[in-house]
Amino acid sequence: MIAAQLLAYYFTELKDDQLKKIDKYLFSMRFSDDTLKDLMSRFKREMEAGLGRDTNATATVKMLPTFVRSIPQGSEKGDFIALDLGGSNFRILRVKVTQDKKQPVQMESQVYETPDDIIHGSGSQLFDHVADCLGDFMEKQNIKDKKLPVGFTFSFPCAQTKLDEAVLVTWTKKFKASGVEGADVVKLLNKAIQKRGDYEADIMAVVNDTVGTMMTCGFDDQRCEVGIIIGTGTNACYMEELRHIDLVEGDEGRMCINTEWGAFGDDGSLEDIRTEFDREIDRGSLNPGVCSFEKMISGMYLGEIVRQILIDLTKRGFLFRGQISETLKTRGIFETKFLSQIESDRLALLQVRAILQQLGLDSTCDDSIIVKEVCGTVSRRAAQICGAGMAAVVDKIRENRGLDHLEVTVGVDGTLYKLHPHFSRIFQQTVKDLAPKCDVTFLLSEDGSGKGAALITAVGCRQRELDAQQH
Ligand code: G6P
Ligand code: BGC
Repeated sequence: MIAAQLLAYYFTELKDDQLKKIDKYLFSMRFSDDTLKDLMSRFKREMEAGLGRDTNATATVKMLPTFVRSIPQGSEKGDFIALDLGGSNFRILRVKVTQDKKQPVQMESQVYETPDDIIHGSGSQLFDHVADCLGDFMEKQNIKDKKLPVGFTFSFPCAQTKLDEAVLVTWTKKFKASGVEGADVVKLLNKAIQKRGDYEADIMAVVNDTVGTMMTCGFDDQRCEVGIIIGTGTNACYMEELRHIDLVEGDEGRMCINTEWGAFGDDGSLEDIRTEFDREIDRGSLNPGVCSFEKMISGMYLGEIVRQILIDLTKRGFLFRGQISETLKTRGIFETKFLSQIESDRLALLQVRAILQQLGLDSTCDDSIIVKEVCGTVSRRAAQICGAGMAAVVDKIRENRGLDHLEVTVGVDGTLYKLHPHFSRIFQQTVKDLAPKCDVTFLLSEDGSGKGAALITAVGCRQRELDAQQH
């Protein structure tokens, strides 16, 4: 054998032996079909608990009513502003909806920065910033003299009793501005706009990003009755029968429910599948003790889970020659976008190694193989448990309607879903396996949730006109 072949042989041998040990080590993060089925049933029970009058208070999955009662009808029209705050971008849009067959929706948008000192400062600083950006946008659009209806996509859990009132239950993801939890964000924004005094705005609707996504996709596909976000955070919404929603009056028709599924497991009910790494990232997070399900799935956390595992594997001597570098100790260094890159099938091991080296992780070829395996295990687990949640949602819709077979479309958005090379496939396969009586089409939202927020605002405007006529 020539030297190069010998070297390759040596690496393969080493790899196989180590991989077996790594495989064993990662075992607790790989789920059987039975575990996933069980997870789906548990989630279904939590949804029921969230909807029930007597069980809502203690349920982790809050099943928040949104006061959105139907998907787009196609008859919406008008000129709207949409604010989109809470994902990786803060965006302001102008959305014109017409009856034009060729191009019914026209949008112009601008992305604004949300620096850390603002999202972690005081509530009034945050809403002053939003009002300033809105002022800038209206100036640029030359509409400062108009009082356009505004739809506000606010991607956090909010308790609503009507479309234009939303009390923040708790901050999630990267946000932690003081004095906002427990307050109505419409009031806070109105106050900030009035303080400036140079323009007016009519905030007609507050919309979760899942709901905005469902509506955006529902405009093109009337069967879209579910929305899901798999991005910085994760969540899902769907059309529920009003008769099942104990917290809202009335029995006729349907209402969109924002499940806020990220909180699933906050009562300890997922402890059998959480690992020491999940607990470690929880301890180091901005909001310890909450968002258990979200922290196992979404983009804000997957990279951190991988980093925790890499530290542990290094301590055990499996990686990086047993040396824990300062880089590896740095929180946030392993962003989820690196998972997506490392897991790409198009990337050769040498390129994986180059990424690790760019990150300051001095790796061998074997290290690269192990890191890729760890990334694959963490993202697969995320996609599967997220799929179990989605399977529970679509199967509940099917049962609600007493159908043997349901055809439904799910509107999807979020950077993790869009950028990761395998997440969407594993997620969709899990839904198919766990909910075989549902034929689910996944529709990627290309336009973000701002478009959906504008469509909901259009419905809000029409309702307000009707109410005015009746009084
Ligand atoms: C869409 C919406 C945002 C939403 C985001 C989630 O683009 O317009 O409101 O929060 O998806 O994605 P991200 O990956 O940025 O968290
Ligand atoms: C929030 C949800 C949101 C999701 C996706 C979660 O952290 O609680 O309201 O829909 O992130 O952005």
